[in-house]
Amino acid sequence: KGGIFTYDPGYLSTASSSSGITFIDGDKGILLYRGYPIEQLAEKCDFLEVCFLLMNGELPNGAQKKSFDNTVTGHTMVHEQLARFYTGFRRDAHPMAVMIGVVGALSAFYHDAMDISDAAHRELSAFRLIAKLPTITAMAYKYNIGQPFVYPRNDLNYAQNFMHMMFATPAEEYKPNPVLARALDRILILHADHEQNASTSTVRLAGSSGANPFACISAGIACLWGPAHGGANEACLNMLEEIGDDSRIGEYIARAKDKDDPFRLSGFGHRVYRNFDPRATLMRETCHEVLDELGLHDDRLFKLALKLEKIALEDEYFIERKLYPNVDFYSGIVQRALGIPASMFTAIFTMARTVGWIAQWSEMISDPEYKIGRPRQLYTGAVTRDVVPIASRK
Ligand code: SDX
Repeated sequence: KGGIFTYDPGYLSTASSSSGITFIDGDKGILLYRGYPIEQLAEKCDFLEVCFLLMNGELPNGAQKKSFDNTVTGHTMVHEQLARFYTGFRRDAHPMAVMIGVVGALSAFYHDAMDISDAAHRELSAFRLIAKLPTITAMAYKYNIGQPFVYPRNDLNYAQNFMHMMFATPAEEYKPNPVLARALDRILILHADHEQNASTSTVRLAGSSGANPFACISAGIACLWGPAHGGANEACLNMLEEIGDDSRIGEYIARAKDKDDPFRLSGFGHRVYRNFDPRATLMRETCHEVLDELGLHDDRLFKLALKLEKIALEDEYFIERKLYPNVDFYSGIVQRALGIPASMFTAIFTMARTVGWIAQWSEMISDPEYKIGRPRQLYTGAVTRDVVPIASRK
């Protein structure tokens, strides 16, 4: 049927076929950032240490960590004009719609970022993104709930500063709980990078045209928003709320297995993992810790999630297809316990993944061999034919 062009599977080869940043073994459930197991990084490092690692390939020593933290702290504020950008949105806009707009708008404030050939400019853009994403994310939340923006504070660490910007109000002092802040910091580590997933490939493809890093990250945010990708954490919590209690788990498992029903179990399955997503295990542990700290041992959604996971993992359909919980299955429950609304879950994912996106973008841009990604196709349309004048068309 018509001329079939040869399909070039390497169409992204110029943008994302090889990388030295993150390694996943889907069959064994292994995830390494620059060779370090995610389990060790989550336990022994903080998020900015992991940012240094992803950006530079090595963990920082004491002096490097101090300097890196100080540089990030020095870029946490946003231009006052950018704050006015929010007022153009409806208050009930989804935070991800705001994030796409505001992060893309950073291109309008930092003209030096347009010159991606300059390594110093590229590094500065990376620092600005890592530093400003918590501020931008918290501002999206504050705008959504009609509260005043809270400025970043240099005396707080990365996670504490974010919690302060999210939950402080001029009416009363807010002190971030260090245990909860550490849990949030670990959640950021678990989401920091994940090889060539859809949104990272989007950032690389956008970057391969020479677009500035803020525009590329904004493209990644748009892709991450989808419920099959980063939006799954919000969808998973909504699914658990809809299931309501154990008695209805069977009904939803049946729906997930029904070929004619588009419903899928949110937070289950993965394009790569054919085993437990190691992040899901760590997220479940973090969930336990946070609920214990808050005295919410009997959190009904957490107990429902544990029951749903158990039943699904014993079901032939899920076993045959090697479907396991992924990073999104528990992340919504723990974020909800931290006081974060479901509408903000993917925005928090964005805040964490920005370092992975910018590390992957930097890796590609600094490769002298990279070229613009240009997908080819398997053509299945009409064969060549002549135009018939409209008067003669039937
Ligand atoms: C993320 O790529 C990354 O690395 C992404 C991510 C990252 O960090 O960047 O890990 C983050 O996006 C995690 C995934 C979040 N999405 C969800 O939780 C949404 C629910 N999951 C599914 O939509 C699905 O599992 C996908 C989209 C994640 C993967 O879809 P695939 O590639 O179709 O899964 P598959 O090839 O393994 O499916 C095999 C079978 C199919 O059925 P059959 O055709 O064999 O009969 O399993 C079925 C699928 O229909 N299946 C599911 C299912 N996931 C797959 N059936 C019911 N519920 C599910 N969740």
